[in-house]
Amino acid sequence: MIILETPRLIIRNWRESDKDLMHLINNDEQVMEFFPFRRTREQSDEVLYLLKNMIEETGYGFYALERKLDQSCIGFCGLSATKQLQPPFPDGTIEIGWRLAPQFWGHGYIAEAANALLQYGFDKKNLKEIVSFAVPDNHRSINVMKRIGMLRDASRDFNHPRVNDDYEHLRPHHVYAITKAQFQAMHNQNA
Ligand SMILES: CC(C)(COP(=O)(O)OP(=O)(O)OC[C@H]1O[C@@H](n2cnc3c(N)ncnc32)[C@H](O)[C@@H]1OP(=O)(O)O)[C@@H](O)C(=O)NCCC(=O)NCCS
Repeated sequence: MIILETPRLIIRNWRESDKDLMHLINNDEQVMEFFPFRRTREQSDEVLYLLKNMIEETGYGFYALERKLDQSCIGFCGLSATKQLQPPFPDGTIEIGWRLAPQFWGHGYIAEAANALLQYGFDKKNLKEIVSFAVPDNHRSINVMKRIGMLRDASRDFNHPRVNDDYEHLRPHHVYAITKAQFQAMHNQNA
């Protein structure tokens, strides 16, 4: 199931053959620096199946990114419903999120996928707003948010409720958001 194509990427649902990559991006210390958990192979396989089913059933979730150049799965980028994060996000809020294996950082792949997914969310899913959030020290992720035109909304900054005491320093999150009107203005599209 293909969601979208961009010049360099296919944004699609997950396959069995993506399991190695899924484990890497759930367990690698560099990738997981700002996450309060690491996943075993068994757990990451389970996440792959959960995501695959969610995408099939709802159309939303973190989609696999396949590089056209060599058909390798490089990570994920997707639109997903926030879960039990009230406040600041009422049910029905859609976030955009991403994670790449380190060897694929620094090529603009996430900005390319995320821009296409914002357009898809606003045009095809008729969303009014898409949010994103990160630990303030996660500059690489926050730079993506800025690069695709998202703006900080400090009024919605929050402490993540599902971060355990061992990772207390990862609780505070900064919130960024973009509305359909802001996206259209940025890309010179008519409302
Ligand atoms: C967050 C993350 C996805 C960002 O990846 P990234 O590769 O830095 O982001 P982009 O795809 O937007 O690429 C931007 C970089 O590619 C460079 N680039 C190279 N070729 C490019 C091109 N053709 N187009 C655009 N940018 C290009 C940019 O200059 C920029 O480099 P810089 O960071 O050195 O300035 C990645 O660091 C990651 O997976 N982190 C771990 C997981 C994580 O924290 N996820 C977010 C949780 S909130």
